[in-house]
Amino acid sequence: MPFYITTAISYVNGVPHLGHAYEAIATDAIARHMRQRGEDVFFLTGTDEHGEPVADAAHAQGLEPRALADRNAERFQALMPQLEISNDFFIRTTDPEHMERVQEVLQRVYDNGHVYKGVYEGWYCPRCADFKVENEILEGNLCPIHEIPLTREREENYFFRLSSFQERLERLFAEHPTFVMPTHHYNEARSFILSGLQDVSLSRARLTWGVTVPWDPSHVFYVWFDALLNYYTALGYARPGNDLTERYWPANYHVIGKDILKFHTVFWPAMLMAAELPVPQHVFVHGFLLGADGRKMSKSLGNVLDPFEVMDQYGTDALRFYLMRDVAWGSDGAVGMDAARTRYESELANEYGNLASRTIAMISRYRDGVVPPAGTDEVLGRDFEGLAATVARMFDRADITQALELIWQRVRRLNRYVEERAPWQLARDAESAAALDETLASLAEGVRVVSVLLHPYMPASVDKLLTALGADGLGYAGAAFGPRGSGARVTPLEPLFPKR
Ligand code: MSP
Repeated sequence: MPFYITTAISYVNGVPHLGHAYEAIATDAIARHMRQRGEDVFFLTGTDEHGEPVADAAHAQGLEPRALADRNAERFQALMPQLEISNDFFIRTTDPEHMERVQEVLQRVYDNGHVYKGVYEGWYCPRCADFKVENEILEGNLCPIHEIPLTREREENYFFRLSSFQERLERLFAEHPTFVMPTHHYNEARSFILSGLQDVSLSRARLTWGVTVPWDPSHVFYVWFDALLNYYTALGYARPGNDLTERYWPANYHVIGKDILKFHTVFWPAMLMAAELPVPQHVFVHGFLLGADGRKMSKSLGNVLDPFEVMDQYGTDALRFYLMRDVAWGSDGAVGMDAARTRYESELANEYGNLASRTIAMISRYRDGVVPPAGTDEVLGRDFEGLAATVARMFDRADITQALELIWQRVRRLNRYVEERAPWQLARDAESAAALDETLASLAEGVRVVSVLLHPYMPASVDKLLTALGADGLGYAGAAFGPRGSGARVTPLEPLFPKR
């Protein structure tokens, strides 16, 4: 089945930080998991390059917006392979193909009668590129997100008749209780709708850094509509000569942070309805990463966790694992170097890494490097029953933290199994040969199963381990525990997570 998943696209007024890495890793984990299940996955990420924040940042550095966009887009693009992100395409909203298609779709919205010209007056945050309604403004006229002063803006705009989609959006939410997940974000979006929708600006007259409005070239489109449309336009040109729109639209999952909920769960479906396009199936909302002190990460507080530092010190898989393990999906989470180190040492090195090396070393030592052709332990097998199906169900709700916890319980179970069976004692006694065979076969099988399930989180380490185990194939059918590894030849494995 076609499965289309996206991240939000990042602003290029700054450089990549941990929040971007977090979202890309989580989305990548889901994409990889779905590929294992045999889905025909298309995974999109990219950069959001137009609008006031980018233009302002460029001018502040004495650059043209395009030059800043080129420079930073390159950094975002380079981050993807560094993080082992398996995206199928990287969209830049300055791609001419994107811009043309934005014009096409929004012209249709205009032709369908959903746009009118009016005057907008309100409090505007240049960093959000968004007008704020009175009840969200902080004391002293500050932006609720950036806590910077808002400016009073008055200008002629084209407006999108969002208010006329009130009923259809209410129906969308009523009929699709999983449209937004987790539920508390569904409720938040729904109450925003129920509080009554107002029309929104579709264009800006003063700005030139954007996609030109085709019916009035003195305006550019409001950056949010240009940006949201990336999810749709990319399919048209990601594979030259092969328009993927039919195959993948509508998207299955949009993965986003909680700060951009309104745009994705209210504006976006309404815009699609206005363009007579199907709406996405689910919007998965994650929380924010905070400094180790639980406060918003900021350079001045000195509580910023640099993803590159974690990768340099412990490797990419350790960063991926740490973020997926320590920050509960859908909630905010405090992260820091000390906690990353603890997870690395206690779980990756001592639990999983050690289990892997012990298993391989014992098969080498006691059975000449061949997984014994024996049955697997039934009692141990019972602890794996239903695991793959439960993990899959959790991924269907983007419960990637919970799924990881469930898998990790099996890593621990396997370490206990080693202690219980003490293969080194069985090896001393010829009469225990069959028991040793069963123990080693069960261990090899258990390690293989947890590794197949861990692939979305730690692809490179799992690859190495499965190769060393002589087990190939990441397919989800292989995530069931059973006697299948028999006869495989193991090869030496360097420590996956060496002591640092
Ligand atoms: N350009 C818009 C999105 C347009 S999507 C059509 C944007 N860009 S962003 O660069 O500010 O953020 C990109 C994504 O990173 C968003 O989903 C945002 O929530 C996420 N994060 C940015 N900072 C974050 C943290 N500190 N923690 C977790 N994710 C956060 O918004």
